[in-house]
Amino acid sequence: MSGTKLYEGKAKILFTTDDPHILLSRYKDDATAFNALKKGTIANKGEMNCAIASHIFQYLEAQGIATHFIKQVSPNEMQVAAVQILPIEVVVRNIAAGSICKRLGLAQGQPLKQPLVEFFYKNDDLGDPLITDAHVSMLDLATPEQVAQLKQLALDINHHLQTFFERCNLILVDFKVEIGSDANGHLLLADEISPDTCRLWDKEISDPTARILDKDRFRQDLGNVAEAYQEVMKRVLAAIA
Ligand code: CDP
Repeated sequence: MSGTKLYEGKAKILFTTDDPHILLSRYKDDATAFNALKKGTIANKGEMNCAIASHIFQYLEAQGIATHFIKQVSPNEMQVAAVQILPIEVVVRNIAAGSICKRLGLAQGQPLKQPLVEFFYKNDDLGDPLITDAHVSMLDLATPEQVAQLKQLALDINHHLQTFFERCNLILVDFKVEIGSDANGHLLLADEISPDTCRLWDKEISDPTARILDKDRFRQDLGNVAEAYQEVMKRVLAAIA
């Protein structure tokens, strides 16, 4: 009973529903990387990410984190609360990988002394640049109170996700979250938590390529992409059961 298409993103489509406070989020098999310069599909990704994200949202809710998740309504669709997404991508890092290695010359896989929270300006035309609190304020992307809340929320989510993925025998290297503001101005974890948005390494494997179980397999053409997502899904579902 989905209504009209509200927005089509790279990995999901949002539809209106009969209730103005509720949207339907449909997960797609499409995969993009490097600001959509690289495009492809990952077989069954929509269903796998929907299942993974649904389980993780429910786990986080049980830990006291407010999310936009309402319920999963089909293998690749969930109902979510309608929120205003802040134009900031919040990245939390536990281990150096990806863009921070290029930017700061850190070695891939180097553990960080403490979790690091970074803000990126959500703007495809600009390639989502790294920004500071001063830029957030200058561009009016969020209030100073919201910035403080965002940082604390990101660290709390990191803490709970680390505990959760530990149970899956997975190392949470880093991840990105998007935060929305609901009708009452409350901040909710929105978007998704999945191998598209997290770097996850198999704890039992030391080989730096073989251990990768996330979208880096797609970004770097490492092969066995769908198999990696499948493995994460299997472990996430087993950890909840
Ligand atoms: O992935 P890339 O090296 O381009 O960027 P990053 O800043 O190292 O990404 C940090 C984490 O955020 C990784 O887990 C990415 O998968 C995730 N991310 C994302 O989900 N969406 C983006 N637009 C950027 C990063």
